[in-house]
Amino acid sequence: MTSTLFILNGPNLNLLGTREPEIYGTTTLAEIEAACIEKARKHGVGVDFRQTNHEGVLVDWLHEAQEAGAKAVIINAAAYTHTSIALLDAAKAITVPVIEVHLSDPQTREDFRHRSFIGEAAVACFKGAGLGSYLEAIEAASSL
Ligand code: DQA
Repeated sequence: MTSTLFILNGPNLNLLGTREPEIYGTTTLAEIEAACIEKARKHGVGVDFRQTNHEGVLVDWLHEAQEAGAKAVIINAAAYTHTSIALLDAAKAITVPVIEVHLSDPQTREDFRHRSFIGEAAVACFKGAGLGSYLEAIEAASSL
């Protein structure tokens, strides 16, 4: 096992900063990445931070985390959280612990956001705290 955390981000998260700021705030993904790297550094772990709009790419990255011996995967699968059995299967297929994160709290939003498929394979979920959700997940991942 290495001391690297894979932090994976799904569709539309590249638009953070301007995307529905009343829900997601104005922090950009680049700012989240910088804060994650800083937080992880304090815990002596590295970060491989990525974003894609494509479901299959997220599946490939979960496999890659396993091959690379990542310490943990922190994933904001965005809308694929609520739709993707492929991502659930990928998370179940690897032994690297998976932690789910969300900027908002999907449980307090529309009904279709209440179900998380990947959550069924996640060891923890941090949500509703914006950037703080990512930082809490790094804190938890560091002590795994
Ligand atoms: C999200 C919540 C999802 O329901 C939504 O589809 C997203 C972002 C969040 O971080 O709050 O794209 O994962």
